[in-house]
Amino acid sequence: MNKDLERIMLTEDQIRARVKEAAAWLDEKYKNCTEPPLAVSVLKGSVMFFCDLVREMKTLVQMDFMTMSSYGHSSESSGMPKIVMDLAAPVAGRDVLLVEDIVDSGHTLVKMRELLQGRGAKSFTVITLLDKPARRQVEVKADYSCFEIENEFIVGYGLDYAQRYRNLPYIGVLKHEIYEKK
Ligand code: PRP
Repeated sequence: MNKDLERIMLTEDQIRARVKEAAAWLDEKYKNCTEPPLAVSVLKGSVMFFCDLVREMKTLVQMDFMTMSSYGHSSESSGMPKIVMDLAAPVAGRDVLLVEDIVDSGHTLVKMRELLQGRGAKSFTVITLLDKPARRQVEVKADYSCFEIENEFIVGYGLDYAQRYRNLPYIGVLKHEIYEKK
């Protein structure tokens, strides 16, 4: 375990098992689709989950990426997520699958839904690896959530603190002294 962590919250095995279940749920959902759904990774946090999820799916998807940022170096959402890099693909008439690492305050999800539905998506499905309902500021829910978690400062498997720890293969709780000394 990385020395800056207090404990591991979700092991690689636990994540892998839930990713498989999520992929099966999506395959069932899209089984009658004639065109590949447009799978959108909300960067950077969702990148690990996204890659593992689409590789477990039997449904062929088109992959696209959008970078949103609302936290910067802070641990509180600005409440106004900004587009840092937009999608390359047009969304009109597509079945859009939005892949998030975490729904926290909910602002990012609300903004993405507004944006992509505004561009004429045929359907809009949200899957998130983690859900932290205790932190919600706006009422919103993913269609599928792999893990509902307590309000703890977590990193790893895509999630960062000040851009660090994203490449840990598991999810762990960061020691208080790491983020309190700043
Ligand atoms: C994080 C995370 C989600 C969003 C969720 O992104 O990846 O996209 O915040 O938080 P919310 O529900 O409070 O909006 P962040 O802005 O930290 O960028 P990152 O993905 O590059 O880490």
